[in-house]
Amino acid sequence: MKMDILLGLQWGDEGKGKIVDVFASDYEVIARFQGGPNAGHSLEFNGIKHILHIIPSGIFHREKINIIGNGVVIDPLIFQEEIETLQKMGLNPAENLRISRKAHLILPTHKLLDAASELQKGNKKIGSTLKGIGPVYTDKTARNGLRICDLQSSDFRERYREQVARHIAVFEQCHFDYQAHLPAMEAAWFKSLDCLLQFPFIDSEYELHDLLSASKKVLAEGAQGTLLDLDFGAYPFVTSSNTIAAGAFTGLGLSPHCAGRIIGIVKAYCTRVGSGPFPTELFDEIGEQLRRQGNEFGATTGRPRRCGWLDLVALKYAVMINGVTEIVLTKADVMSNFDTINICTAYKVNGKIVKRMPTETDVKIEPIFTSFKGWKEDICAIRRYDGLPEALKNYIQFIEQEVSTKISIVSVGPDREATIIR
Ligand code: GDP
Ligand code: IMO
Ligand code: MG
Repeated sequence: MKMDILLGLQWGDEGKGKIVDVFASDYEVIARFQGGPNAGHSLEFNGIKHILHIIPSGIFHREKINIIGNGVVIDPLIFQEEIETLQKMGLNPAENLRISRKAHLILPTHKLLDAASELQKGNKKIGSTLKGIGPVYTDKTARNGLRICDLQSSDFRERYREQVARHIAVFEQCHFDYQAHLPAMEAAWFKSLDCLLQFPFIDSEYELHDLLSASKKVLAEGAQGTLLDLDFGAYPFVTSSNTIAAGAFTGLGLSPHCAGRIIGIVKAYCTRVGSGPFPTELFDEIGEQLRRQGNEFGATTGRPRRCGWLDLVALKYAVMINGVTEIVLTKADVMSNFDTINICTAYKVNGKIVKRMPTETDVKIEPIFTSFKGWKEDICAIRRYDGLPEALKNYIQFIEQEVSTKISIVSVGPDREATIIR
C-alpha cells in the first residue's frame, strides 16, 4: 500500500485541516510529518469549529490511528491544551494517538529565543508565530535538541538544564530579559509533561512500515505551505521545516517508493501571515473584502492575513516541487461578490516578463494578470460540480490548464459537508 500526501501549495491556511478531515474516512492512519504549534488547522462539523495545532486532523475519527511523526516539534503545554479540549468533547485521544520517540521538544526558552530573535531583527522580522519553531529546529540540526524519548531517561532534568544554560547565555549576550518570564513558563511546562507521558511513544517509522505492509492506507498531513518551505520558500521569510512532499519521507521515515497520491490544497485566492514577498497582494477594498468574507485571521495567532489574487507562477512552482497529482480548490465561495476576478500568470521583473519564482527576496515583482468574469452567486449550498456557475467552471478550467493538473475537489464552505467531489 502507498502513502498519500496532502499539503498546502501556498503560504499556509489553504484549508488543509478541513480537507484531511473530509478524506480521513478513506484512510486508516493520519500522520503529521513536520511543523508544530505554528500550525492552526480548522475543521468544522455539526455546527462546531475545532482548531488543531500539533494533533493530526484525523483525531475526530475515533477508529483512525493518528501519528505525530519524528519531523514534528512538540510543545507539551500546547499539546496538553489540545488534549483537554478534545477530552471535553467526549473524545479519548489516548486510544488513537501515538507520538514518535524521535520528535523534538519545544522548551520554554525556545519560545523566548524566538521573541528575542524577532526583536533583534526589527523591521526585518519574519513575523514568526513565536511558538519556538526556529529555535527548536536550530537545536535539532545543531544536535543539541531534546526528544520525546529523552523524557523517559533518568538524566532528563540535567540535560534540560544544560540546554537552558546554553539558551540563557544567548539571552545575556543580547540583553534579553528572560528572567521575568522563565520561572512561570518552566513550572507550567514541567507540569504539562504528565499529560504527554500518558501517550504511547513509538518508533513511528517501524509502525508506519508495518501498517503499510498490512495494506493499511496512510495519509500524511502537511503543515504550513510550499511557499513557506525552508529551502524553496522566499528565504528567510519561511518556516524552519521542509513543508513540501519530500518532507513527508524524512518526517515519517518512509521511503519515496511509498508515495501514492500527492494532493495539493489551493485557496481560490492567496493569503499570507507574517512578513515576506507577496506579489499579488491587494492593499485596497478588494483585499479588505477577501479578508472579511474569507474570515482571514490566523487560526494560531489571530493576526489578520494579507490577501491577494491567485498567483499561477507560484502555484506552478509548487505543483512542480511537490509532484502534485491532484488539486483541491478551497474557498471559491468567498469570491462570490466580485464583478471581475484576476489571476496572475506572469511577473515583470526589471522590465522583463518572467514565469519563474525569483530566488532573491529584494526584487520588485509586478504581477501580470488575466481577468475573469466573477460568478456573483452564492455557491455554499451547491453539492454537484454541474451545479456550479459557468464563470467559476471557467476559472477552474483555466487553472487546470495552466498548471496541467486536475482539480478533483471544490470546497465551498468550512463545513465537512460543503465539499464537491468531481
Ligand atoms: P489550514 O491551516 O490549511 O488547515 O487552514 P486554516 O484552518 O488555518 O484556515 C482555513 C480557514 O478557512 C478556516 O477557517 C476554515 O474553516 C476555512 N475554510 C476551509 N475551507 C473553506 C471553504 O471552502 N470555504 C470557506 N468559506 N471557508 C473554508
Ligand atoms: P498552517 O499549518 C500560515 C508563517 C508565520 C511566519 C513564518 C514563520 O496553519 O497552514 P514560524 O512560527 O514557523 O517561525 O513562522 O511562517 N506560518 C504560517 N502561516 N499558516 C501556518 O500554518 C503557518 N505556520 C507558520 O506567520 O510568517
Ligand atoms: Mg492554518
